Amino acid sequence: MSEAKVSGARIKVGIITLFPELFGTFSETSFVGRARSSGLLELELENLREHGLGKHRSVDDTPYGGGSGMVMRVDCIVQAMESLEARWGERAHRVLLTPQGQVLKTAVAQELSTHSSLIFICGRYEGFDERVRSFVDLELSLGDFVLTGGEIAAMAAIEALIRFVPGVLGNPESTGEESFSDALDGGLEYPQYTRPAEFRGLGVPDVLKNGDHAKVDAWRKAESRARTMARRPELSQAQRR
Ligand SMILES: C[S@@+](CC[C@H](N)C(=O)[O-])C[C@H]1O[C@@H](n2cnc3c(N)ncnc32)[C@H](O)[C@@H]1O
Repeated sequence: MSEAKVSGARIKVGIITLFPELFGTFSETSFVGRARSSGLLELELENLREHGLGKHRSVDDTPYGGGSGMVMRVDCIVQAMESLEARWGERAHRVLLTPQGQVLKTAVAQELSTHSSLIFICGRYEGFDERVRSFVDLELSLGDFVLTGGEIAAMAAIEALIRFVPGVLGNPESTGEESFSDALDGGLEYPQYTRPAEFRGLGVPDVLKNGDHAKVDAWRKAESRARTMARRPELSQAQRR
């Protein structure tokens, strides 16, 4: 299944999945939807079933050595990747979604955004035949938990990386002072407030209402440092190393 092909897209993303329908609303909504319609993102869904074998188009089989569950076949996955790349006319940066991979962080998302084409491979069942790992460039995890499939991890990676594709965010400063950004020394964002000025006894710090930008800036930097030390001290330590 091929999603809207947009010529001149800044980044092409292919998703190999047994459940392309999961990406329907995701690909049409908010930044991802806008990036697609403005030609900055081309999203192409490759239904792994189309590369399956036999009458039932099987893409999995029982594990050698026995054990429960089914394992995804290497031949079907490699054929799906090569089929996408043949259509694109280029070798993509191939990313395998697995709980055993490198954990998705801002720096990883930023690096992924620099490739002209990416393929995300979403697993199901008990995961992949080990040999699949020989055909990919990165193994990526959403965190230390096990999902039923790689699709939500692929969506998270796409949302995180698309923010770094020039032109996707209306205001380029939006990626500036975010949590984990260089502008905040890799720490957490400072507290933010909007109207009303008072809600059920909770007010807004005076410094934010006085219009003194230098003071606001200093307050935000200090709050960011304090919050990072309180909640994620390891982020501050990583910065000092
Ligand atoms: C049930 S999991 C298989 C887990 C595998 N048996 C293991 O223990 O490593 C099925 C698929 O979901 C995806 N998945 C599960 N947890 C994930 C995570 N934390 N990050 C990224 N993908 C994940 C992977 O694509 C995986 O192949």
